[in-house]
Amino acid sequence: MSNNTRDIRRPLLFECAWEVANKVGGIYTVIKTKVPVTVSEFGDRYCLIGPLSYKTAPMEVEAEEPTDPDLAGTLDAMRSQGVKCLYGRWLIEGAPRVLLFDTGSQYSRLDEWKGDLWNLAGIPTPPNDHETNETVVFGYLVAWFLGEYVSRQLHTAVIAHFHEWQAGLAIPLCRKRHIDVTTVFTTHATLLGRYLCAGSVDFYNNLQYFDVDHEAGKRGIYHRYCIERSSAHCADVFTTVSHITAYESEHLLKRKPDGVVPNGLNVVKFQAMHEFQNLHQTSKQKIHEFVRGHFYGHYDFDLDNTLYLFTAGRYEYRNKGVDMFIESLARLNYLLQKSQSKMTVVAFIIMPAATSSYTIEALKGQAVTKQLRDTVTEIQNRIGQRLFDHAMRSNGEHGTLPAPDDLLSEEDKVLLKRRIFALKRNSLPPVTTHNMLDDGNDPILNQIRRVQLFNHSYDRVKIVFHPDFLNSNNPILGLDYEEFVRGCHLGVFPSYYEPWGYTPAECTVMGIPSITTNLSGFGCFMQDLIERPEDEGCYIIDRRMQSVEDSVNSLTNCMFGFANKTKRQRINQRNRVERLSPLLDWKNLGMEYSKARQLALRRAYPDAFYGNEEEEFDFGAGIDRMMPSMPPSPRVRATGMATPGDIGTLTEEMEHLKTSDYRGFNWPSSQEDEDEGYPFPLV
Ligand code: UDP
Ligand code: G6P
Ligand code: GLC
Repeated sequence: MSNNTRDIRRPLLFECAWEVANKVGGIYTVIKTKVPVTVSEFGDRYCLIGPLSYKTAPMEVEAEEPTDPDLAGTLDAMRSQGVKCLYGRWLIEGAPRVLLFDTGSQYSRLDEWKGDLWNLAGIPTPPNDHETNETVVFGYLVAWFLGEYVSRQLHTAVIAHFHEWQAGLAIPLCRKRHIDVTTVFTTHATLLGRYLCAGSVDFYNNLQYFDVDHEAGKRGIYHRYCIERSSAHCADVFTTVSHITAYESEHLLKRKPDGVVPNGLNVVKFQAMHEFQNLHQTSKQKIHEFVRGHFYGHYDFDLDNTLYLFTAGRYEYRNKGVDMFIESLARLNYLLQKSQSKMTVVAFIIMPAATSSYTIEALKGQAVTKQLRDTVTEIQNRIGQRLFDHAMRSNGEHGTLPAPDDLLSEEDKVLLKRRIFALKRNSLPPVTTHNMLDDGNDPILNQIRRVQLFNHSYDRVKIVFHPDFLNSNNPILGLDYEEFVRGCHLGVFPSYYEPWGYTPAECTVMGIPSITTNLSGFGCFMQDLIERPEDEGCYIIDRRMQSVEDSVNSLTNCMFGFANKTKRQRINQRNRVERLSPLLDWKNLGMEYSKARQLALRRAYPDAFYGNEEEEFDFGAGIDRMMPSMPPSPRVRATGMATPGDIGTLTEEMEHLKTSDYRGFNWPSSQEDEDEGYPFPLV
């Protein structure tokens, strides 16, 4: 299969994902933030491959002619057969080369390819699953491209790295067609895991026992599951983003991953510590602006004693732990009331759902606030003018001050009263900012109704559900997501199913404390590396070894404890959290990807490594790596893993691990600890 004449020292890398230049969720963040470190290793030998979206690509990609004649020849050959694609530079930091395929240009071959997939791999594909159709066309285009390319370019080894099942189909095709590339498959979840957890299954205690084909069939995802499973099995190297997902993959995909490649971020260090603290302050002012407008007429709380908590992500009600968040907020409300706390908590839920528009009430809130502000500014100017005139005038009596009543004219008083009266409202501040298409059945709204968090004056916990991702161009809450996170005090992500979970990781590098769980890849990663993560502002709720009721109480107590902190304690905690950033920097974690690629080369071209051992582990030569320069606290666990390359686990040792050896877990061997079920309904 492999051509031993290929040079393995300076290989080419194609990295392929459905979220290349196409934002959906966290995989986009993986790809985009990893680019600088990958470009520093591969330079122009690196090219990303993704789907071509005519809506976003023109803004994201600058078209270019390929300089590599074999690549140009390949694209010409494909274009001559009707394939539409865009090649150029993705306009993000690192400016990598990118190749986007228009799947729409090849739908005419869909049936032919589906037949081929069945004959070749025994994978069935039903007619009306759009996502699978896209996956099939995309997979066949990528395999076509790779096959064509390596038949022209015969001198250099090619690594093809695929993320998630939507991009994975090319892997079994490469294998069956003996295409001379080496493949890596990284999964960021398993389909079955996501589906099973979203239901009411006690997932983690039963992982070993699921009849996978049957469960996939029951949920109508058998064909997708087959694609995912064959991607995992046919890849030279198979990795996942966390130990928890490695364990899940072993049982649900039936292949033990070769290793874990934890997700990093492109950490930007400020020159001085206070800079990110200042950013918090300025972003918080913008959130204050929104809150004044949203709560108009009921704005009877002190913003200086108000904390902004939030959760955010794709709308996965149970998997992202929104059910637990809302239940705990209701309990927090009770605790704050009972303790007569002076604090108010405003909890934001940022999760896109189907909506028709902003609500009139939400728009009106911002409008009346703006009118009041404009009127106050006008009156302020007029008062200023009057003050100035009075002070300037000389009636023989210099130095008198005007009487306060002379400063505010009758007209101004009337105008001001009109604006103040406009702030009267008969209804409570709305829970949601948008008109929901299915208001009556929306799980988040139903849970809020059930716990009756309706933004009453006496509620110490207020809720704002923003069912859309944030954008600075929005008329309401017009901030970018990053700015919003910086302005908040605490991120809360009590996930039940979370292979990694970028949202708390992003909080960490922005110096915002967060709560996550020991069922999230990120939570386990931090628990593994830091002795007492909660002391560093990285709270991890146990959703594994205790009942749901106890987990809800832990979360409530954690938020209540946070609400009782002083301003100084909050500032200190932000400093401590921010110091954890190096642990999440791609400059360190990128090495795990280098190891995965090395292993793939070694497996595909073993002879090339024979007798050449010293080259074997030259991971990521050329990467400008950052050593974690941790002050004495936080205490990185003394497990001998504090050097960058040891943070993940990608070694061939992984193969010899027993299932119970996945890091950070103590998995039950039987169903001893039955979960008692949810204290709140699954909607
Ligand atoms: N995100 C965003 N805008 C928002 C809320 C979230 O861009 O308003 C991003 C966030 O920055 C993160 C991603 O969405 O990078 C979610 O990734 P995560 O790994 O937490 O979850 P996934 O959606 O992949 O399951
Ligand atoms: C940052 C700013 C301080 C501000 C503080 C507010 O640290 O540099 O000037 O007082 O934030 O903190 P808080 O937790 O109350 O939002
Ligand atoms: C998936 C997971 C998420 C992870 C992301 C990136 O979408 O749901 O937990 O952070 O991929 O790996």
